[in-house]
Amino acid sequence: LMFEDSQAASRATAKEIAKLIKVKQSQRQPCVLGLATGSSPKGLYAELVRLHKEEGLSFKNVVTFNLDEYYPMEPDSVNSYVRFMKKLLFDKVDILPENCHIPDGALSKEDIADYCNRYESKIETVGGIDLQILGIGANGHIGFNESGSLQNSKTRLVALDHITRVAASKDFAGLSNTPRTAITLGVKKIMEAKRVILMAWGEGKSNIIHLSVEGQVTNQVPASFLQEHNNATFVLDREAASKL
Ligand code: GLP
Repeated sequence: LMFEDSQAASRATAKEIAKLIKVKQSQRQPCVLGLATGSSPKGLYAELVRLHKEEGLSFKNVVTFNLDEYYPMEPDSVNSYVRFMKKLLFDKVDILPENCHIPDGALSKEDIADYCNRYESKIETVGGIDLQILGIGANGHIGFNESGSLQNSKTRLVALDHITRVAASKDFAGLSNTPRTAITLGVKKIMEAKRVILMAWGEGKSNIIHLSVEGQVTNQVPASFLQEHNNATFVLDREAASKL
């Protein structure tokens, strides 16, 4: 789905989410959103905040699960995804703090496997993800499921690709300060989401968007798995869509 620019695309996506939240409200059910970080969803979160402030959209029934977090990472550290989500969304709407879930980057190593299992169980307990927002890495990663991630992979600790660390290094003042690992929701839970929206902007994403949408389905490009999802949409601006 191509839009004139990222703002129009973010607005349309926010509208769809607002509608889903309201439908779930009327059914007295939680609306379970899978959320992403990175620069791509920033406009979406700004638009959701606007809908809350100007149109009274309530997030009281919204339950969120973020895709990933660097490891190790303290939640109050400048580059944590906890901090990112609070600043851009959670602190600006009426969502209940206990309904916001982000993988914990401050666990000790031996607790990670158990924690990841519990993270998936929590998603199942609330009925699965209704709508999953995704960005895409330069190598086609979704969440931090890097090239080579299997379609049935679970939530787990992963090693970050060099290309991913280079992209992140601008936030961490150099590659040597950039985390080498992260906790990510596995591909399986992403594929189980009832609806998936992948957002990508700019010329720089056009090659990987082409490979993901029109290339072979391969674990070398995890975003290509979405070709096999029955309700996934790539929301793109003109530049990101330019090689399709
Ligand atoms: C990070 C995130 C991914 C995100 C990617 C793309 O790697 N963990 O979930 O999709 O960045 O970031 P951007 O949207 O800034 O291009």
